[in-house]
Amino acid sequence: MVASVIKPTPNTDHDIKDLSLAPLGKQRIEWAGREMPVLRQVRDRFAQEKPLAGIRLAACCHVTTETANLAIALKVGGADAVLIASNPLSTQDDVAASLVVDQGIPVYAKKGEDAETYLRHVNIALDHRPNIIIDDGSDVVATLVKERQDQLSDIIGTTEETTTGIVRLRAMFKDGVLTFPAINVNDADTKHFFDNRYGTGQSTLDGIIRATNILLAGKNIVVVGYGWCGKGAALRARGMGANVIVTEVDPIRAIEAVMDGFRVMPMEQAAPLGDIFITVTGNKHVIRAEHFTVMKDGAMLANSGHFDIEIDLATLKDLSTSVTTVRNFTEEYRLPSGKSIIVLGEGRLINLAAAEGHPASVMDMSFANQALGCEYLIKQRGVLTPGLHPIPTEVDQEIARLKLQSMGIGIDTLTPEQVEYMNSWTSGT
Ligand code: ADE
Repeated sequence: MVASVIKPTPNTDHDIKDLSLAPLGKQRIEWAGREMPVLRQVRDRFAQEKPLAGIRLAACCHVTTETANLAIALKVGGADAVLIASNPLSTQDDVAASLVVDQGIPVYAKKGEDAETYLRHVNIALDHRPNIIIDDGSDVVATLVKERQDQLSDIIGTTEETTTGIVRLRAMFKDGVLTFPAINVNDADTKHFFDNRYGTGQSTLDGIIRATNILLAGKNIVVVGYGWCGKGAALRARGMGANVIVTEVDPIRAIEAVMDGFRVMPMEQAAPLGDIFITVTGNKHVIRAEHFTVMKDGAMLANSGHFDIEIDLATLKDLSTSVTTVRNFTEEYRLPSGKSIIVLGEGRLINLAAAEGHPASVMDMSFANQALGCEYLIKQRGVLTPGLHPIPTEVDQEIARLKLQSMGIGIDTLTPEQVEYMNSWTSGT
């Protein structure tokens, strides 16, 4: 059960849709918490040790039931935390309400918020003068670096859990503007092997199904990008009986996709074949004008990459004679040829726009990494240099051990003889 941290505080500042949704949110947060045993253990230790006491923290995450469990753990650990949405469509309004009402955590997030509101919330997060930023896509850190340099002296560091955010942080470091440590949560093994692959795989199909209610069996599904998220989407689409085509720009990933049993071809060839397209590249305009024009009538486009830049929607709009909402999160773009192209979730993360994001069981490990990443930043304050740092291997391994334990699964340990063998080079044939 999720412990209420403090009594309801009507004075808790917020910008959310509807406080009266709190009871539903509380119930759903508790439901997710049942599948988050590792984070629960971190929270219980944080309650005793208060490692985040005195720390001002701004978290920019998808406001979901899973994030709520993270926010509660951070608050229990002593952080003075505020939470904003990391995407205009991913907020679960009942969760936002419960965090404000039941936990006294200031939340600034509304499902469907416009870009201006989103940016206002980013600035509210920075007005909190955070010492630690938990970022999801790196918008808060980028705004700090670009516009609020006077606050750099407050910063202990940031943690980042998306591939997109890590790419941005690397670019900031290269340009000499990342002047504080950033913990690379995304590349922890207990994060990307599970969250990116199985989380994105399942929740992407969940979003497509909830938005459209179509049968996936027998469809040609084109997965654009074969990183960890693409691998998950392709794997699960095949599991549902789809014929999966993969497009890639990286030759090694392309071979991997071939040897995993998928057809691989350039987008130019895949565009006329696909019934459903799923973009997961982190890059811009991977589906664009030359592809729209050769697609089948009724082809569906969905994105599961962090930002809504992967499908060139502005051009699709320009090319179209009309745009009609035909179901929730489902828009039909009619082309002058009479063909239509269906865009799901406005080209934003379909798994969070039309479904509920990754299931709690994988977010358990991702968010244990986030919480422990914050603790690590504090413990290593003054020691960690500016730039990206991995989650320590011991932390990653411990999260995996706790997860296995919670699943009731035991594994073997090396015998002393095996340890000695692994540490020597003298024996061989
Ligand atoms: N990213 C993907 N799925 C998520 C979830 N359920 N909660 C928070 N962030 C997510």
